[in-house]
Amino acid sequence: MKKDFLTILDLTREEAHGLVQRAAAMKSQRYTSDLFADQVLVMIFEKASTRTRLSFEVAVRRLGGSVIFMTDRESQLGRSEPLKDTARVIARYAEGIIVRTFGQDKLHELAKYADVPVVNALSDSYHPCQVMSDMLTMYEHTPEFEGLKVAWIGDGNNMAHSFINAAVHFPYKLVLACPEGFDPDPAILAKAKELGADVTLTRDPKEASAGAHYINTDVWASMGQESEQAEREKVFAQFQVNKELMALADPQCKFMHCLPAHRGEEVTEYIFESPASIVFDQAENRLHMQMAILEWVFTHQG
Ligand code: CP
Ligand code: NVA
Repeated sequence: MKKDFLTILDLTREEAHGLVQRAAAMKSQRYTSDLFADQVLVMIFEKASTRTRLSFEVAVRRLGGSVIFMTDRESQLGRSEPLKDTARVIARYAEGIIVRTFGQDKLHELAKYADVPVVNALSDSYHPCQVMSDMLTMYEHTPEFEGLKVAWIGDGNNMAHSFINAAVHFPYKLVLACPEGFDPDPAILAKAKELGADVTLTRDPKEASAGAHYINTDVWASMGQESEQAEREKVFAQFQVNKELMALADPQCKFMHCLPAHRGEEVTEYIFESPASIVFDQAENRLHMQMAILEWVFTHQG
Protein backbone atom coordinates (compact mmCIF):
# COMPACT_ATOMS: atom_id res chain seq x y z
CA MET A 1 0.00 0.00 0.00
CA LYS A 2 1.31 3.44 -0.84
CA LYS A 3 1.52 6.05 1.91
CA ASP A 4 0.10 9.58 1.64
CA PHE A 5 0.29 12.44 4.13
CA LEU A 6 -3.13 14.07 4.22
CA THR A 7 -3.61 14.75 7.94
CA ILE A 8 -1.52 14.48 11.11
CA LEU A 9 -3.61 11.44 12.03
CA ASP A 10 -1.93 9.59 9.14
CA LEU A 11 1.02 9.40 11.57
CA THR A 12 1.31 7.22 14.64
CA ARG A 13 2.39 8.96 17.82
CA GLU A 14 5.87 7.47 17.45
CA GLU A 15 6.10 8.65 13.85
CA ALA A 16 4.97 12.17 14.77
CA HIS A 17 7.61 12.46 17.49
CA GLY A 18 10.16 10.80 15.20
CA LEU A 19 9.53 13.49 12.57
CA VAL A 20 10.19 16.26 15.10
CA GLN A 21 13.49 14.61 16.07
CA ARG A 22 14.45 13.99 12.46
CA ALA A 23 13.62 17.54 11.38
CA ALA A 24 15.63 18.95 14.31
CA ALA A 25 18.63 16.81 13.27
CA MET A 26 18.29 17.84 9.62
CA LYS A 27 18.15 21.48 10.70
CA SER A 28 21.29 21.21 12.82
CA GLN A 29 23.30 19.60 9.98
CA ARG A 30 21.91 21.59 7.03
CA TYR A 31 21.06 18.13 5.72
CA THR A 32 21.14 17.23 2.04
CA SER A 33 20.76 13.86 0.34
CA ASP A 34 20.18 12.18 -3.01
CA LEU A 35 16.89 10.57 -1.94
CA PHE A 36 15.11 12.09 -4.95
CA ALA A 37 18.00 11.85 -7.45
CA ASP A 38 16.52 11.77 -10.98
CA GLN A 39 13.05 12.15 -9.49
CA VAL A 40 10.42 14.81 -9.97
CA LEU A 41 7.60 15.86 -7.65
CA VAL A 42 4.66 17.80 -9.06
CA MET A 43 3.14 20.58 -6.97
CA ILE A 44 -0.48 21.50 -7.74
CA PHE A 45 -1.48 24.72 -5.99
CA GLU A 46 -5.05 26.01 -6.35
CA LYS A 47 -4.45 28.72 -3.72
CA ALA A 48 -1.74 31.33 -3.24
CA SER A 49 1.42 30.49 -1.26
CA THR A 50 4.77 31.96 -0.29
CA ARG A 51 6.17 29.77 2.52
CA THR A 52 4.73 26.41 1.58
CA ARG A 53 5.70 26.64 -2.06
CA LEU A 54 9.21 27.91 -1.40
CA SER A 55 9.96 25.57 1.50
CA PHE A 56 8.78 22.52 -0.45
CA GLU A 57 10.75 23.54 -3.52
CA VAL A 58 13.90 24.03 -1.45
CA ALA A 59 13.26 20.81 0.51
CA VAL A 60 12.96 18.72 -2.66
CA ARG A 61 16.13 20.29 -4.08
CA ARG A 62 18.04 19.60 -0.84
CA LEU A 63 16.90 15.98 -1.17
CA GLY A 64 18.36 15.86 -4.66
CA GLY A 65 15.18 16.06 -6.72
CA SER A 66 13.31 18.60 -8.76
CA VAL A 67 9.77 19.96 -8.80
CA ILE A 68 7.28 21.14 -11.36
CA PHE A 69 4.92 23.77 -10.01
CA MET A 70 1.47 23.95 -11.53
CA THR A 71 -1.72 25.86 -10.76
CA ASP A 72 -5.26 25.20 -11.89
CA ARG A 73 -5.17 28.41 -13.89
CA GLU A 74 -2.62 27.40 -16.48
CA SER A 75 -3.44 23.70 -16.55
CA GLN A 76 -6.46 21.82 -17.82
CA LEU A 77 -7.71 21.58 -14.23
CA GLY A 78 -9.00 25.11 -14.68
CA ARG A 79 -10.90 23.95 -17.75
CA SER A 80 -12.68 21.20 -15.82
CA GLU A 81 -10.49 18.22 -16.64
CA PRO A 82 -11.46 15.81 -13.85
CA LEU A 83 -9.01 15.54 -10.99
CA LYS A 84 -9.01 11.78 -11.26
CA ASP A 85 -7.72 12.03 -14.83
CA THR A 86 -5.09 14.61 -13.87
CA ALA A 87 -4.02 12.33 -10.99
CA ARG A 88 -3.44 9.36 -13.28
CA VAL A 89 -1.53 11.46 -15.82
CA ILE A 90 0.81 12.97 -13.20
CA ALA A 91 1.48 9.52 -11.73
CA ARG A 92 2.84 8.45 -15.15
CA TYR A 93 5.43 11.25 -15.08
CA ALA A 94 6.36 11.98 -11.50
CA GLU A 95 7.23 10.25 -8.23
CA GLY A 96 4.86 12.24 -6.02
CA ILE A 97 2.32 15.06 -5.76
CA ILE A 98 2.19 17.96 -3.30
CA VAL A 99 -1.21 19.64 -3.32
CA ARG A 100 -2.78 22.85 -1.99
CA THR A 101 -6.49 22.86 -2.63
CA PHE A 102 -9.97 23.53 -1.25
CA GLY A 103 -11.97 20.48 -0.14
CA GLN A 104 -10.27 17.59 1.66
CA ASP A 105 -12.35 15.33 -0.61
CA LYS A 106 -10.23 16.52 -3.56
CA LEU A 107 -7.09 15.32 -1.80
CA HIS A 108 -8.66 11.94 -1.17
CA GLU A 109 -9.70 11.67 -4.82
CA LEU A 110 -6.22 12.56 -5.98
CA ALA A 111 -4.68 10.08 -3.55
CA LYS A 112 -7.09 7.37 -4.70
CA TYR A 113 -6.38 7.75 -8.41
CA ALA A 114 -2.66 8.63 -8.35
CA ASP A 115 -0.56 5.60 -7.50
CA VAL A 116 2.20 7.87 -6.19
CA PRO A 117 2.27 9.51 -2.73
CA VAL A 118 0.20 12.66 -2.17
CA VAL A 119 1.13 15.30 0.44
CA ASN A 120 -1.36 17.88 1.75
CA ALA A 121 0.10 21.38 1.47
CA LEU A 122 -3.12 22.91 2.91
CA SER A 123 -6.79 22.28 2.36
CA ASP A 124 -9.91 23.97 3.72
CA SER A 125 -9.86 21.37 6.50
CA TYR A 126 -6.22 20.92 7.49
CA HIS A 127 -2.68 22.31 7.30
CA PRO A 128 -0.70 19.31 8.56
CA CYS A 129 2.77 20.29 7.30
CA GLN A 130 2.49 23.70 8.97
CA VAL A 131 1.38 22.27 12.30
CA MET A 132 4.01 19.51 12.28
CA SER A 133 6.62 22.23 11.79
CA ASP A 134 4.95 24.17 14.61
CA MET A 135 5.53 21.09 16.79
CA LEU A 136 9.23 21.40 15.91
CA THR A 137 9.18 25.11 16.83
CA MET A 138 7.48 24.39 20.15
CA TYR A 139 9.91 21.53 20.82
CA GLU A 140 12.84 23.93 20.32
CA HIS A 141 11.45 26.26 22.99
CA THR A 142 9.92 23.70 25.36
CA PRO A 143 11.14 20.14 24.68
CA GLU A 144 8.48 18.68 27.01
CA PHE A 145 4.92 18.93 25.65
CA GLU A 146 3.42 17.52 28.84
CA GLY A 147 2.06 20.31 31.04
CA LEU A 148 1.94 22.94 28.28
CA LYS A 149 -1.15 25.02 27.71
CA VAL A 150 -1.68 26.08 24.10
CA ALA A 151 -4.34 28.70 23.32
CA TRP A 152 -5.96 28.99 19.91
CA ILE A 153 -7.65 32.37 19.48
CA GLY A 154 -9.99 33.01 16.54
CA ASP A 155 -11.38 30.91 13.75
CA GLY A 156 -11.91 27.17 14.12
CA ASN A 157 -10.29 26.71 10.72
CA ASN A 158 -7.81 24.40 8.96
CA MET A 159 -4.97 25.44 11.30
CA ALA A 160 -7.15 24.91 14.38
CA HIS A 161 -8.11 21.46 13.09
CA SER A 162 -4.49 20.46 12.64
CA PHE A 163 -3.62 21.75 16.13
CA ILE A 164 -6.50 19.58 17.42
CA ASN A 165 -5.11 16.56 15.56
CA ALA A 166 -1.59 17.25 16.80
CA ALA A 167 -2.93 17.21 20.38
CA VAL A 168 -3.62 13.49 19.86
CA HIS A 169 0.12 12.83 19.59
CA PHE A 170 1.67 15.73 21.56
CA PRO A 171 0.31 15.89 25.11
CA TYR A 172 -0.37 19.64 25.43
CA LYS A 173 -3.62 21.05 26.73
CA LEU A 174 -5.33 22.91 23.88
CA VAL A 175 -7.95 25.57 24.64
CA LEU A 176 -9.67 27.12 21.63
CA ALA A 177 -11.52 30.43 21.95
CA CYS A 178 -13.77 30.88 18.91
CA PRO A 179 -16.79 33.11 18.37
CA GLU A 180 -20.15 31.38 18.07
CA GLY A 181 -20.60 29.98 14.57
CA PHE A 182 -16.83 29.61 14.04
CA ASP A 183 -16.09 26.57 16.14
CA PRO A 184 -13.93 23.80 14.73
CA ASP A 185 -15.67 20.89 13.03
CA PRO A 186 -17.35 18.90 15.85
CA ALA A 187 -16.46 15.60 14.15
CA ILE A 188 -12.74 16.47 14.10
CA LEU A 189 -12.94 17.56 17.73
CA ALA A 190 -14.83 14.44 18.82
CA LYS A 191 -12.41 12.10 17.06
CA ALA A 192 -9.36 13.78 18.60
CA LYS A 193 -10.91 13.59 22.07
CA GLU A 194 -11.76 9.94 21.54
CA LEU A 195 -8.08 9.39 20.67
CA GLY A 196 -7.04 11.06 23.93
CA ALA A 197 -6.44 14.72 23.01
CA ASP A 198 -6.96 17.25 25.82
CA VAL A 199 -8.98 19.89 23.93
CA THR A 200 -11.61 22.31 25.21
CA LEU A 201 -13.64 25.10 23.62
CA THR A 202 -14.57 28.46 25.09
CA ARG A 203 -16.04 31.72 23.80
CA ASP A 204 -13.65 33.70 26.01
CA PRO A 205 -10.16 34.53 24.65
CA LYS A 206 -9.08 35.56 28.18
CA GLU A 207 -9.95 32.15 29.58
CA ALA A 208 -8.01 30.46 26.77
CA SER A 209 -4.98 32.72 27.27
CA ALA A 210 -4.80 32.51 31.08
CA GLY A 211 -1.49 30.85 31.96
CA ALA A 212 -0.89 29.79 28.34
CA HIS A 213 2.63 28.88 27.21
CA TYR A 214 1.76 29.47 23.55
CA ILE A 215 -0.87 31.75 22.06
CA ASN A 216 -1.70 30.98 18.48
CA THR A 217 -3.88 32.78 16.02
CA ASP A 218 -4.54 32.98 12.28
CA VAL A 219 -6.29 35.26 9.80
CA TRP A 220 -9.99 35.84 10.35
CA ALA A 221 -10.85 35.06 6.71
CA SER A 222 -8.92 32.18 5.17
CA MET A 223 -8.21 31.73 1.49
CA GLY A 224 -11.52 31.21 -0.28
CA GLN A 225 -13.41 33.28 2.34
CA GLU A 226 -12.34 36.72 1.11
CA SER A 227 -15.95 37.80 0.46
CA GLU A 228 -16.69 37.30 4.20
CA GLN A 229 -13.83 39.59 5.32
CA ALA A 230 -15.98 42.58 6.42
CA GLU A 231 -18.49 40.42 8.27
CA ARG A 232 -15.73 38.44 9.96
CA GLU A 233 -13.94 41.62 11.10
CA LYS A 234 -17.04 42.43 13.18
CA VAL A 235 -17.50 38.91 14.57
CA PHE A 236 -13.83 38.48 15.50
CA ALA A 237 -13.21 41.99 16.90
CA GLN A 238 -12.87 40.67 20.49
CA PHE A 239 -10.50 37.91 19.38
CA GLN A 240 -7.40 39.99 18.70
CA VAL A 241 -4.12 38.90 20.26
CA ASN A 242 -2.83 42.06 21.95
CA LYS A 243 -0.90 43.18 25.02
CA GLU A 244 -3.89 42.70 27.31
CA LEU A 245 -4.35 39.09 26.25
CA MET A 246 -0.62 38.26 26.35
CA ALA A 247 -0.44 39.76 29.85
CA LEU A 248 -2.75 36.99 31.11
CA ALA A 249 -0.47 34.25 29.78
CA ASP A 250 2.60 32.62 31.32
CA PRO A 251 5.46 35.19 31.53
CA GLN A 252 7.45 33.06 29.02
CA CYS A 253 4.47 32.76 26.65
CA LYS A 254 5.31 32.73 22.92
CA PHE A 255 3.13 34.14 20.17
CA MET A 256 2.62 31.89 17.14
CA HIS A 257 1.09 32.55 13.72
CA CYS A 258 1.48 30.48 10.55
CA LEU A 259 1.58 33.67 8.45
CA PRO A 260 0.65 35.63 6.45
CA ALA A 261 -0.62 37.88 9.28
CA HIS A 262 -2.96 40.85 9.19
CA ARG A 263 -1.57 43.32 11.70
CA GLY A 264 -4.28 45.29 13.44
CA GLU A 265 -6.75 42.45 12.93
CA GLU A 266 -5.98 39.10 14.57
CA VAL A 267 -2.74 40.43 16.11
CA THR A 268 -1.36 43.84 16.96
CA GLU A 269 1.85 45.14 15.42
CA TYR A 270 3.27 45.31 18.97
CA ILE A 271 2.80 41.60 19.71
CA PHE A 272 3.79 40.51 16.22
CA GLU A 273 7.13 42.35 16.51
CA SER A 274 7.67 41.62 20.21
CA PRO A 275 10.38 39.26 21.58
CA ALA A 276 7.58 36.81 22.42
CA SER A 277 6.85 36.34 18.73
CA ILE A 278 8.37 33.19 17.16
CA VAL A 279 6.64 33.49 13.81
CA PHE A 280 9.82 33.52 11.71
CA ASP A 281 11.16 30.43 13.50
CA GLN A 282 7.87 28.83 12.50
CA ALA A 283 8.37 29.93 8.90
CA GLU A 284 11.95 28.60 8.81
CA ASN A 285 10.94 25.28 10.30
CA ARG A 286 8.59 24.60 7.39
CA LEU A 287 11.70 23.73 5.37
CA HIS A 288 13.21 21.35 7.92
CA MET A 289 9.95 19.61 8.78
CA GLN A 290 8.97 19.17 5.15
CA MET A 291 12.31 17.52 4.42
CA ALA A 292 11.56 15.09 7.26
CA ILE A 293 7.97 14.54 6.05
CA LEU A 294 9.08 13.91 2.46
CA GLU A 295 11.74 11.48 3.63
CA TRP A 296 9.20 9.67 5.80
CA VAL A 297 6.56 9.47 3.08
CA PHE A 298 8.92 8.29 0.37
CA THR A 299 10.88 5.80 2.43
CA HIS A 300 7.82 4.18 4.01
CA GLN A 301 6.03 3.04 0.90
CA GLY A 302 4.74 -0.48 1.57
N1 CP B 1 1.84 29.40 6.37
C1 CP B 1 1.68 29.15 5.06
O1 CP B 1 1.22 28.08 4.64
O2 CP B 1 2.04 30.18 4.26
P1 CP B 1 1.84 30.30 2.70
O3 CP B 1 0.36 30.45 2.44
O4 CP B 1 2.63 31.51 2.29
O5 CP B 1 2.34 29.04 2.04
N1 NVA C 1 -6.09 29.60 7.50
C1 NVA C 1 -5.24 30.18 6.49
C2 NVA C 1 -3.87 29.63 6.57
C3 NVA C 1 -2.91 30.20 5.56
C4 NVA C 1 -1.56 29.58 5.62
C5 NVA C 1 -5.85 29.92 5.11
O1 NVA C 1 -6.32 28.79 4.88
O2 NVA C 1 -5.87 30.83 4.31
